[in-house]
Amino acid sequence: MFRLVVSVSLLLSCFNCFSLASLITCSGIVPMRYRNDKISITDFGGIGDGKTLNTKAFREAIYRIQHLRRRGGTLLYIPPGVYLTGSFNLTSHMTLYLARGAVIKATEDTRSWPLVAPLPSYGRGRERPGGRYMSFIHGDGLRDVVITGENGTIDGQGAVWWNMWRQRTLPFTRPNLIEFMNSRNIIISNVIFQNSPFWNIHPVYSSHIVIRYVTILAPPDSPNTDGIDPDSSTNVCIEDSYISTGDDLVAVKSGWDEYGIAYGRCSSGITIRRVTGSSPFAGIAVGSETSGGVENVLAEHINLYNVGVGIHVKTNMGRGGFIRNITFSDVYMENARKGIKIAGDVGDHPDDKFNPNALPVVKGVTIKNVWGVKVQQSGTIQGLKNSPFTGICLSDINLHGVTGPTSPPFKCSDVSGTAYQVNPWPCSELTSSQRTGSCSNYL
Ligand SMILES: *[C@@H]1O[C@H](CO)[C@@H](O)[C@H](O)[C@H]1NC(C)=O
Ligand SMILES: *[C@@H]1O[C@H](CO)[C@@H](O)[C@H](O)[C@H]1NC(C)=O
Ligand SMILES: *[C@@H]1O[C@H](CO)[C@@H](O)[C@H](O)[C@H]1NC(C)=O
Repeated sequence: MFRLVVSVSLLLSCFNCFSLASLITCSGIVPMRYRNDKISITDFGGIGDGKTLNTKAFREAIYRIQHLRRRGGTLLYIPPGVYLTGSFNLTSHMTLYLARGAVIKATEDTRSWPLVAPLPSYGRGRERPGGRYMSFIHGDGLRDVVITGENGTIDGQGAVWWNMWRQRTLPFTRPNLIEFMNSRNIIISNVIFQNSPFWNIHPVYSSHIVIRYVTILAPPDSPNTDGIDPDSSTNVCIEDSYISTGDDLVAVKSGWDEYGIAYGRCSSGITIRRVTGSSPFAGIAVGSETSGGVENVLAEHINLYNVGVGIHVKTNMGRGGFIRNITFSDVYMENARKGIKIAGDVGDHPDDKFNPNALPVVKGVTIKNVWGVKVQQSGTIQGLKNSPFTGICLSDINLHGVTGPTSPPFKCSDVSGTAYQVNPWPCSELTSSQRTGSCSNYL
């Protein structure tokens, strides 16, 4: 099975002569810092017995980093052991370093969990009106932060939150596992994230974010445990990671409806490369919250196993905003409910004050070099009557069915664009083109 995967990905790679010798990376957009000053959580009374609550130790260690301001920043070392703690804020110029066998574990005491204001581009909590619980690990207005180590674990103990969601007893929106707001020059690498209460990694109103060599795990039935959601953020690079969760592996967003339109902050320059994983929802998604606009997204060398929708571009009436210059390339998917979905009727609304005439503009979505095995439905490409999706270009796509050699045909409406070597043949709305590249007239 592994050999099959390797040979297929090599086959796909041949389309653009990808080779290990010239492994492309965007991780250089944030410099990795070496910190001379090092402290350990144990210097602040931290006890890694899995029972002692270490909230005070974390807050004091970070207070020390923030106020002593050592030249070149400070590394906070977490030794092997299980460190139970309440949520805490990071500060600028620091590295949170998790040793092999180190676990930072969230308390299950949801009642004393701090609340923070809603994000302006959402106008309310994402799932409940009003404020929202602070992320387990939170950063606001930071510069130069690294979270790394020897693949230690950040564990959200999300089950207590998932059960509150299931029983409809959540007073406020669940916490993300980690969120950076208004921050810049952030690296997250060589860490395992597991059992997030809600979204796992949420960079919002931020730029220059590198996330690589991470593993993100949550059960397939855990609600809203998206892997990584770059949100109204620019220059985000996500590479070489494994994500298997209960919701979209990566979803690029920018706020929703009247709040996101008013805030007007787009996501741009997002690279997603060499990501592998499983999800009952989307593999790689744009949306559905795209009211500030999403542009210049590249997702390539993606391997998906047991996935709901392999490639999903989703928006809605009332969203406004735009989705343009989005490229998906070299995607392998196996055992998918649906291969490709581009749709204008996905996601709910924050309230009934949205403007139904705020129609999203979807222009320039290129999907190329896709190989699917056991794909139940090829997909749907459905624009909006009063805002047809344009410049939708598919090429070199092979989606094999569960029973037959090809999966059932695409369904399309209110779209225009081109298709080249797509099997099964998409639909008459996409005109046959001679070759790829004739598709860049989306501006
Ligand atoms: C952490 O940051 C949040 C939001 O910026 C703030 O409301 C809260 O007071 C901070 N908590 C601590 C303990 O510093
Ligand atoms: C940590 O995990 C990454 C990604 O799976 C892997 O590439 C790396 O070698 C691991 N590092 C260590 C120190 O085990
Ligand atoms: C389209 O997006 C890609 C990233 O995928 C970027 O390199 C390119 O410059 C963008 N094109 C335009 C015209 O902005």
